[in-house]
Parts: sequence; structure tokens; C-alpha cells
Amino acid sequence: SCPYHNSSTSNNTPAPPIKPKTIRDWWPEQLDLRILHQDVLLARPSHVPHPSSSSYASYSTNFSKLDLYALRNDIYKALTTNNPHWPADYNHYGPLMVRLAWHSAGTYRTFDGRGGGNTGNIRLAPLNSWPDNANLDKIRRYILWPIKQKYGQFISWGDLIILAGNVAIESMIGPWKSVEPLWFGGGRIDAFAPEEDVYWGNEGEWLKDDRHHHGGGGKGATTTATTTGLDKPLGAVQMGLIYVNPEGPGGDPDILASAKDIRETFYRMGMNDEETVALIAGGHTFGKAHGAADADKYVGPEPEGADINEMGMGWKNTFNSGKGKDTITSGLEGAWTAKPTQWDNGYFHNLFKFEWEKTKSPGGAIQWVPDAESIAKNGGDYAVRNVPDAHDASLKHLPIMFTTDLALRYDPLYGPISERFHSNPEAFTDAFKRAWYKLCHRDMGPKSRHLGPWIPNEELIWLDPLPDRDYNTVTSYYVKVLKGNIIRAVNNERSDLTISDLIKAAWASASTYRKTDHRGGANGGRIRLLPQRNWSVNDPQSLNKVIALLEKRQQDVNQRMKDNNINAQVSFADMIVIAGNAAIEEAARRAGKVITIPFVPGRTDATQAQTDVDSFKFLEPVIDGFRNYDGSDDLRPEKALIDRAHLLSLTTPEMVVLMGGLRVLNANTDSSQIGVLTEQPGVLTNDFFTNILDDNVKWSPSADGKLFRGTRSTGRDWTASRVDLVIGSNSQLRAIAESYASADSAEYFLRDFINVWVKVMMLDRFDLLRGEDVD
Ligand code: HEM
Repeated sequence: SCPYHNSSTSNNTPAPPIKPKTIRDWWPEQLDLRILHQDVLLARPSHVPHPSSSSYASYSTNFSKLDLYALRNDIYKALTTNNPHWPADYNHYGPLMVRLAWHSAGTYRTFDGRGGGNTGNIRLAPLNSWPDNANLDKIRRYILWPIKQKYGQFISWGDLIILAGNVAIESMIGPWKSVEPLWFGGGRIDAFAPEEDVYWGNEGEWLKDDRHHHGGGGKGATTTATTTGLDKPLGAVQMGLIYVNPEGPGGDPDILASAKDIRETFYRMGMNDEETVALIAGGHTFGKAHGAADADKYVGPEPEGADINEMGMGWKNTFNSGKGKDTITSGLEGAWTAKPTQWDNGYFHNLFKFEWEKTKSPGGAIQWVPDAESIAKNGGDYAVRNVPDAHDASLKHLPIMFTTDLALRYDPLYGPISERFHSNPEAFTDAFKRAWYKLCHRDMGPKSRHLGPWIPNEELIWLDPLPDRDYNTVTSYYVKVLKGNIIRAVNNERSDLTISDLIKAAWASASTYRKTDHRGGANGGRIRLLPQRNWSVNDPQSLNKVIALLEKRQQDVNQRMKDNNINAQVSFADMIVIAGNAAIEEAARRAGKVITIPFVPGRTDATQAQTDVDSFKFLEPVIDGFRNYDGSDDLRPEKALIDRAHLLSLTTPEMVVLMGGLRVLNANTDSSQIGVLTEQPGVLTNDFFTNILDDNVKWSPSADGKLFRGTRSTGRDWTASRVDLVIGSNSQLRAIAESYASADSAEYFLRDFINVWVKVMMLDRFDLLRGEDVD
């Protein structure tokens, strides 16, 4: 019942007897640390930028040397020049290129920031072989590769695919010579190996759906918008699809149920109803679907499953010529409008003009055509059959719609939006352009990471904007003054704050960062704004006191600099890091070590109006092993720790040392003593490691298995979580812990802890990327 053929499954099923057993086969429950060790450096040729900040700087230098207008013209020429390897529909590759860009960007999901087009991963497994990406190998190889080959390292695949999608749209808005470039930001750094961290679902077969559970919200759902029960963090309803099944849920042509799937999946990409309607309608204003015959009969394996002599190409089609008019892609067949290579209002025009009846494509998929009454009412078959054939000028066809297209008319929320766009084409064009830009740039982080001349001047709230700085940064002298003042204030015996509160606040501020879509982090000082300020993981009571103290000190020092005619200011975002650093220096001093933590000022403060409360909700940690916070019922805390460490771009040793340091600094949410394995909380020692490895402590689980009691022969008993115990029980993590518990470890424990602390504080300093390195 599903249009997407599955011809290679049998080829692809690995033969069980020759599969060597892995550690994971022996112990499936063992903590998998491999996502922290993806060797991005070793996988790529040494001359190609890798996704660290230094590489970003070198890519941005390459990119700045590009003649983007020449590249744009080259793309246009390729889009409009027929290549006999894969003849263009309507003599224009524009629609297929738009589909490539959309499928490249469309895997992005807000829950974990993973997916999306920012690593060019659609050219690698598994995405290059997803059934939904059928025949996108052709446009990449035959149309884009010659351009990529010409421009080499000056443009990444990730950038080229999105730029080519833009040029395709521009060319169909036309006329080419006068059309303005759409908004575009470069800066995508290519992956050379599949990203092991992305969970695409655990079905073992293409197009299977074993991901709908917990009716009413999906696994661990915290939002009301999730109504279909799709597991988090997945963005598609079936394995190997970008979003939804075009025929309807599971192949059932139920229009309203299909609307629910659409709403759920587009919401997970950060799109509201208006953006969703604009994107689907805008996309299907172009091009056609391909289902000349039954895929199961004629189409061969996808690229990764194809024979070696296919040279990385897949979906070999043995139906007649196997291309052009004989193409089989989705199995649906036909175009939505009378002018499939022109931007116009034809999609809505057809959607509302006709009543639609179910039919089947030659490939056997369910789709919809105007019913007999509509045809009669609109001038008969000759008038309604106005869709040109993609390869034979003498033929005309009826327009088609998918079940998902009809959802845009019949869903009670999508319907009125579609009607508005139908009667107001300018509003539709504007909404499409904006939503397209968002679709293609949602995973790139803030504007400071976007390169090139076509970046919008407008402030777009979903880009988490930051104000520019129109003053000098605070000098090191005043940073020192501030640190002294802050520590004196908390050390004052009347103070109800401790250095731990300062460390917690700095951690809360910086650790929202996720490298997957470059959102979050300390810059912007959003920790003092909604929603972060009220997140329970952030211990709002203590946080609010810290904010009040730091705002006061910030005002004082800024006034002092002003009085001394110094044109400099300190932002709140910098204050919170300064205070965290000061607190850690104080904790080291209490351990008898004098240190100064490196600090680079220059963060700026966003306003509440610049902060999209709804979209920041996705950054809220429901679980954070670094603070021993567990607000989740379904997640295994130690697995979630690895996930968070990955989002923070930490290696395993960095994760371990950071955790051990934060424990003795007493930085848990609610100041809980879980895992605070030291007699002197607030003193920066390696006590956590020596105590977690102490065999004289006997650990026993509590009734719910979440907490453990550590019985000691001397001193009070300890309490610890699974996250704490895994450091001593997992052989890999224990090996690292041993190195920090050894007699000679005091110096390098301190050094490594400080280094990783600074790294986390600096993760979002994209403002420094193009000049200074912040690796
Ligand atoms: C074509 C499904 C949203 C752009 C297609 C095809 C399917 C499909 C089945 C036919 C593929 C083939 O056989 O060649 C869907 C579904 C969507 C969706 C289920 C969401 C509910 C979008 C969006 C865009 C887009 C958001 C872009 C903004 C296109 C284009 C084509 C296409 C340009 C024509 C490709 C060509 O002419 O070769 N879509 N699509 N689609 N889609 Fe979508």
C-alpha cells in the first residue's frame, strides 16, 4: 500500500552467519560511548575543513573568495541544460533540485537539533539510500558534481545543495536576468562519515513504523502539539521517510489523519501551521511525481545496496528506458499545476477549484484527480487536462493531488490559511520565501555563523538574535575587581549564596548549547530571561538570587567605568561566566591552588523580545547528569549523560573530568548531595574519583533503582545516582576515573577540569570564530 518501493530489502538483509559479534551484541545494555569518539578528523582528507571552529575559520576564508554570482550562473546553466544521463522533466532540473534541497534540510528536528542539511549528509549512508530520497543520487551526480568539482573546497556540498535549491527557485520565479537572489547563508561544513549520533529509529526494514507509542504525545512528550504518539525525537512517521506518507498514514488515504501527521512532523522541525502550508504548497507548485510503473517489479537496490559496478548509483530502473517518461521514484505520478517550472498560484487554484476523487497511479499508489462533476463544471476534459507532459509536448494530463495536499484544504486549521494564500498570492510568496529560508538554515545556528552577501538584514527571532556590541569589552582589571567583589559578597557570613550557586548559574547558562544546531549557550545572557530562568533544572530560587547579585554588580562596575571615562561595559552574559570562573578559582584556592581561569569578554545581552520562548522550550534539559537532575520517566540517565556530552562536543575524558569536578563543587540541582562524594563540598579536589573507586564502599539500589546508598565503615553514607555509579562500573569510564584518582593526578585533574570548563563556557562564541580560534 505504500508508494515507496522497497525492492532492495532482501538484498540488504545481512546474512546472519557471517556477521561478527560486536561488544554490543554480547551486552546490548552496555553504555555506548562511541558517539563521543566519532573520528571526524580521520575520516576526511587533510585539506578538507572539519567541523571544528578552526576549520570554520578556514572554510569562511575559502567561501569569501568565491565569486558567488559566477557560481549562481553556473548552477542556473546546469539546471537548464539537458544531461542525457538523466533527461530533465520540462527541460528544467529546477523542481528536482528543490526536492534535493528540501530533503537535505528536512531531516532537522528540534528536539535534539540533529539532522538537517548542515553537514551535506544526504550524500552519505543511510540518507543517500532512504526510499524517500530515491533518484536524488541522479541530480547530485549528474548536475551538481561537475559544479562541485569545479569549485572544490571553496564550497561545501552542504552549501552547494542549499544554494542550488535557491537558484532553482529563483530561476522558476524568473525572469532569470532580473530575479533577486533569495536569502542564503553559507557555512555548512561537510561530514565525511555518517553521523553515528543520530537516532533515525530502530525499525529493521524500510518504511516500517514501530515508532508510534504512548497515544497522546510520543515517548516522553512534554508538549501538547504532539497528538499522534510519534516517539521522540524522531521527525518522520516511517523509517526512511523525510516526514509523512503522501498517501496518508500508513498508506490509508485519510485526509484529516494525514493532516495530523503533517502537523506533528512539521512542528518537530520548528514550523507552525502557516509555514507548513506555505512550504508544502510552494514545493508542489513545482515539478511532478514519478510512478511510470510498479517499482517492485522494475526498480533495483538503493545506492548502498547496489552492485559495485553501479559506482554508487542506485534505484536502477529496468522499465523501458528507465528514465525520462519511464522514471519511477515515489510511484505516484503527475503534476500539481499547469506550469510546473514556474512560480505561480496554480497549486491553490487547482486545490480549491476541483472536487477530488481517489485514483491509482500507473505505479499503483493512491492519489487524487478532479472528479467527473468538477471536470464537467470546468469546461470538460480538454480544459481541465491542462498539465503538460514532462517529455512529450503533444500530451496533456489532469492535475493530481496527494492525500497530504488535500489536507491543506480540508484540515480546519490549514484550510483557512490555504484560502488566504489562494486569494493573496503576494502573502503566499512572502510566506514561502521566509519558510524556505528557515527550513534551510534552521540547523546553522545564529547569524554570526552565516556567510556571504545574501544574509537577511531583518532580525528573525528563530535565529536567536543577539544585539551588536557598540562599546568596548570590559578590561581585565575590572574583571579582577568584579571577581573580588563577587566572592567577597558570597563569602560574607550574612550571604545566603555560596560559590556553588555561582557555578550552577554559569553551568545552567552555558550548558544549553548543542553543537547539532548551534543553539543555546551563555551568549545573550538568556539565563536571566524566560523560559530558562524558570526551568526547574536551573533551581530558580537560587538562580534568581544570583541574577539579582550579578545585575547589581554589573551596574556598579559599568557606572565605575563610566565615571572613569572608560568606554567599556560588561554584559550580564559575561558577568555570569566571570562569576562562575571566580567561584571555581575560590574552590581551587580552598584546595591550596592559585589559578586564574582564562576569560574572553564580549558576549552581549539579548532581550526578552529577542527570545522565542516557545522554541527555547526545546532546549530545556529534562535530565542532566552533570547536575544529577532527573526529571524524566523514560530516559536512562547515563545514556542521557552521553547524549548531553555529545551535544556539548565533549570527549569521554572531558565528560568524566567535568562531572567529577562539578560533583565536588556541589553543583547539583537543588543542591542535592547525590554523588557529592567528598567531605569538603566546594573545594576543588579529585575526591569524587577516589571515593567512587573506593572498594570499601558497598553500594545498594533503592526500591526504584534510581538512587544508590553507599555504606561506609567510617563516616556518613553516600548517596549516588546511576550516572555516578557508571563512572566506577563501566570499564571504559573506570579507566579514565582511575587516571584522575591516582596519587599523581592532582595537577592534571585541575588542569583538565579547567580546560573543559572553559571549553563549555566558550562553545557559542561564534563572534570570535573568524578571527580568533576558540577550539
Ligand atoms: C515531489 C511528497 C513536502 C517539494 C514530491 C513527491 C512526493 C512528495 C511523493 C514525488 C516524488 C517523485 O516521485 O518524484 C511530499 C510530502 C510532503 C512534501 C508527503 C509533506 C507533506 C514538500 C515540501 C517541498 C516539496 C515542503 C519543498 C518546499 C517537492 C518538489 C517535488 C516534490 C519540488 C517535485 C520533484 C520533481 O519534480 O522531481 N513530494 N512532499 N515537497 N516535492 Fe514534495
